[in-house]
This record gives sequence, structure tokens and C-alpha cells, in this order.
Amino acid sequence: MNRMRLDKFLSDMQIGTRSTVKDLIKKGQVSVNDTLVKNPGFQVDTEQDLVTCMGNPITYQRLYYYMLHKPGGVVTATRDHHASTVMALLPDASGKHLAPVGRLDKDTEGLLLITNDGELAHNLLSPNRHVEKTYYAECRGTLTADAVTLLENGVEIGDETPTRPAKVNVLTQSADFYAMELTITEGRYHQVKRMVQAVGGSVTYLKRLSMGTLSLDENLPKGSYRALTEQEIAGLKTR
Ligand code: URA
Repeated sequence: MNRMRLDKFLSDMQIGTRSTVKDLIKKGQVSVNDTLVKNPGFQVDTEQDLVTCMGNPITYQRLYYYMLHKPGGVVTATRDHHASTVMALLPDASGKHLAPVGRLDKDTEGLLLITNDGELAHNLLSPNRHVEKTYYAECRGTLTADAVTLLENGVEIGDETPTRPAKVNVLTQSADFYAMELTITEGRYHQVKRMVQAVGGSVTYLKRLSMGTLSLDENLPKGSYRALTEQEIAGLKTR
């Protein structure tokens, strides 16, 4: 038995904000087992009770949020005929309809958010929202001041439009090597690698450090995952 307040049940299922669903309940739009319920604090059993809102049955699907420290060598997909997938690293994932939010290349490591919250995934990936993603990149080549300016202002990578402005934080630099943190606000195919290529270098190692307000937990070993904290979930939802 899994009991919770009726208003939480409805807002978890994204019927509306907590205050919108309270209004709906008070206005008599919500029934539990065919009985009108006007108390937002009414306790429902998420597995047994039949909740309907404005005549539509609402099935409770628990939302799960995990961060995975993706290792190299696994593909970001729910299934693949040839290679091992990130989902195989979450042994208790089955039946939860989980999917990775965005894609990291097979050889890219680092932060991957995995959830069944479709609305959050959509918001984080929406091209209009410009969610910041920070990568640590080790590169072969020389990073000139002009190259930094190009990366910062937007660079042609063979698409219709140049990339949006990025933030560059050079960490180390020698004659034929540099390491930097690069923050981008888009999610184009192989974007970081193509940006580096466009300024004459090549990425030899790539790791995602953060996405929006969510940072990779430094204590999470490569290949491991953990559930997000309530605070981390709230941070991602309120940006
Ligand atoms: N940019 C890339 O080139 N690869 C990734 O995996 C992510 C961003």
C-alpha cells in the first residue's frame, strides 16, 4: 500500500501545480473510486484507488531521477544491437520507463541524467531554454587567443548557424595540448568535438561535468549511479 495526499498525487502526475490542483479538487473536478472528493489532503492509495480528474482516469506512475557517471565504451540509448548501453548500468531500471536525457558519445564520460519524467527531459533539452552544459575537454593542438574568442562568440561548425556563445575556462596549455572547461547552451551532434575541430584542434578526452543546476557527484565512481536528492530535483525543475 502506498498512500499520499490527493493534491500531491495529481501534481506528481503533472496535472498542474500544487495550488492549481487544490483548486480543481475544491471545485469538485476530482473523484476517487467514483466518489467526489473536495479535500486536497484526502489520502489515496496510489496502487488501488481509481482517481479521475475532469472525467479522465489518472494512473500514478512514480517518477525516478538518477545521475549516472557514464564510463566510456557504452552507448547512450535504451537498447542497441551491437554495444552495451547506459541502461545496462542501472540494474533496477526495468519497468520504470526510464530514458537518458540527451546523448553523450560512446567515448564521452561523465554526467548523464536518467529519468522517466518526460516533462523535465523535454524542458532540459528544449533548444529555446539554452540549458548550460559544462564539459571538461582535453585536446591536441594549440589554443590561440583567437580560437578562444571564436569559441566564446560562436563558431561555424558546418551547420546552418554558428554555435551560440560559449564559456571557455582554460586549465592547462602547452605547445600541442590543452585542457579546458567549455560551457555550451545547445546540444548539437558531436558539438564539443566539432567546435574544437573548427578552431584547429581535436578532442582526445571528453567528460560532462554539469547540466543546468545538476553537477556530477565527485564521489560517484565511473559506471555507478545514484538517485538525485530532493534538492537536486527541485533545482532542475525551477530553472
Ligand atoms: N559534445 C560532443 O562532441 N560529444 C559529446 O558526447 C557531448 C558533447
